[in-house]
Amino acid sequence: LPFDLRQNQHPRSAEERAAILADPGFGNHFTDHMAVATWTSSDGWHDSAVVPYGPFTLDPATAVLHYAQEIFEGLKAYRHADGSVWLFRPDQNAARLRRSARRMALPELSEEDFLASIDALVSADEAWVPGGVSGEQSLYLRPFLFASEAFLGVRPSRRVTYCCIASPAGPYFASGVHPVRIWVSTTYNRSGPGGTGAAKTGGNYASSLVAQAEAAEKGFDQVMFTDAVEQRWVEELGGMNVYLVTTDNELVTPALSGTILEGVTRDSILTLAREFGLTPVERQISLEELLAGVDSGLVSEVFACGTAAVITPIGLLADDSGDHKVSSGETGEVTAALRKNLLDVQYGRAEDTHGWMRRV
Ligand code: COI
Repeated sequence: LPFDLRQNQHPRSAEERAAILADPGFGNHFTDHMAVATWTSSDGWHDSAVVPYGPFTLDPATAVLHYAQEIFEGLKAYRHADGSVWLFRPDQNAARLRRSARRMALPELSEEDFLASIDALVSADEAWVPGGVSGEQSLYLRPFLFASEAFLGVRPSRRVTYCCIASPAGPYFASGVHPVRIWVSTTYNRSGPGGTGAAKTGGNYASSLVAQAEAAEKGFDQVMFTDAVEQRWVEELGGMNVYLVTTDNELVTPALSGTILEGVTRDSILTLAREFGLTPVERQISLEELLAGVDSGLVSEVFACGTAAVITPIGLLADDSGDHKVSSGETGEVTAALRKNLLDVQYGRAEDTHGWMRRV
């Protein structure tokens, strides 16, 4: 698909942009353009372009508003010291978008078209890619697909809209890169067997919100979910995967069960582990084992990971049994080293030995 640029005639001024880039937060601000394409069952994909950023006009009967047939992705564009702009493993996001599409009965967008849309959007809004700043700033890209047919019958939509928007972003957590506090929910589940847990679909996040809000009310940053069948196995947090580090140098993350989001950062850490002399392990972890390990010190570090969260240390886990502080509650050595290494690759400060980076 061609993503030709239809220039925004009223872009933000350089001053407005600079003010936003000075302190973007996460998900608050959007660039001057967006990539769009339309799919219909009769004509396939068409009408692709990069157009001025702006609202959609939706018929009240638009299917996504009723049955939530929707999927999305999250990836970032990073500015390197020489000014060039790079994406991290965008082929993985393209592949996951196709997997999510299959699960949610949406049309697949080819990797070629996915990458073309992102290249065109990031090129158009290159000035919005933060640069030259210390810390963790990037242009967060949010590609998504939704059922845009106006029809109330429950069946796959015959019209689907693809869009990618871009948002200059700093750290996901308002606290910056400090250890976060996690509430373990055994009241709510995120997804069950045969459900949509492995798809990056809005409903999984919608179902996490009440649990997340209750955790926030209790003073926690994120909620951790266990499996829906036994309420026993650690799955993931509200919007990120989870890892633990053991004193015998294992880096353990819950095995993909069909109900866990297959994170790109999660996958990258499995590869990086070996470079740090750690043994990557994907297996079931019971909540009981995790909390006992944290209490005894056998689990020395716990961290969250995701595109938005990068690698965020977890300082405290709590459930109805009380608080379980992870070691000293501060950022662990392994967590800090993995985080630094991942960011160094993403920002071009370390050699990209795995061929993960793609220049825009
Ligand atoms: C991510 O991009 O890391 C997400 O999963 C989405 C959300 C937590 C902001």
